[in-house]
Amino acid sequence: MVKVSLIQSQPILGEAEQNIQNLIPLLAQTEDSALIVLPELANSGYNFTSRNQAMKLSESIEDSRFIEFLHQHARASGCHIVAGMNERERDLLYNTAVLVGPDGIIGRYRKLHLFMNEKDIFEPGNRGLPVFDVGQMTVGIQICFDYLFPETWRILGLKGADLICHPSNLVTPYGQKVVPMHSVVNGVYVITANRTGADGDLKFSGGSIITGTRGEVLARASENKPEVITIEIDPQKSRNKMITEKNHALNDRRPDQYLDILES
Ligand code: ACM
Repeated sequence: MVKVSLIQSQPILGEAEQNIQNLIPLLAQTEDSALIVLPELANSGYNFTSRNQAMKLSESIEDSRFIEFLHQHARASGCHIVAGMNERERDLLYNTAVLVGPDGIIGRYRKLHLFMNEKDIFEPGNRGLPVFDVGQMTVGIQICFDYLFPETWRILGLKGADLICHPSNLVTPYGQKVVPMHSVVNGVYVITANRTGADGDLKFSGGSIITGTRGEVLARASENKPEVITIEIDPQKSRNKMITEKNHALNDRRPDQYLDILES
């Protein structure tokens, strides 16, 4: 069994240092969790008024106070952390989630499917859908609106993710409804770490969830307040893809009959 936590926080647009300070008491509640998932854009806030503003609030991976803060916690507690951040690379911005462990940055995922005004600010992700070995389990990452695209879940499932970490800033209440279905279809755990509060005219829907390999909602946060949830999960369950004694969730696929998907 592995202890995992979600942090449902409430980042404030443009208040990078305050956002870090607000995470300290929340991280303290994760006890001895092996893996902690934070929301999308946890360093900067979400609803930028311009690309210029987003640029000012971005950080490069190599020189990020936010990552250094996460690394300090990971080193002190021996855990791994997945957190969304506004990433700058030269003069380009990415909506990124980093994976940080006791020894520093392990990897990153850049959001593939940009939502609404994100298209005016960020570049679409260009690093595919990697999975990472974090010791007791393999994790994949996708970010918020990626949930609408079954392909991202499937690819991470096929690559052997036991757990899909899903940092989010969901504004609709139906994203959380879709997540259990993808857990069942791919036989994986999912942690959707959403945020609460509002940024300008956008209100975020909270309700972060952890789902099990049969689509059970193992834990659900409130809709409107910062919160920490910690549970134990069993990665062995995500490695058993048998649905019945004669059906395997992944091996029963018929890719030879799915070629239409390549044409459209
Ligand atoms: C979203 O992708 N932040 C809705």
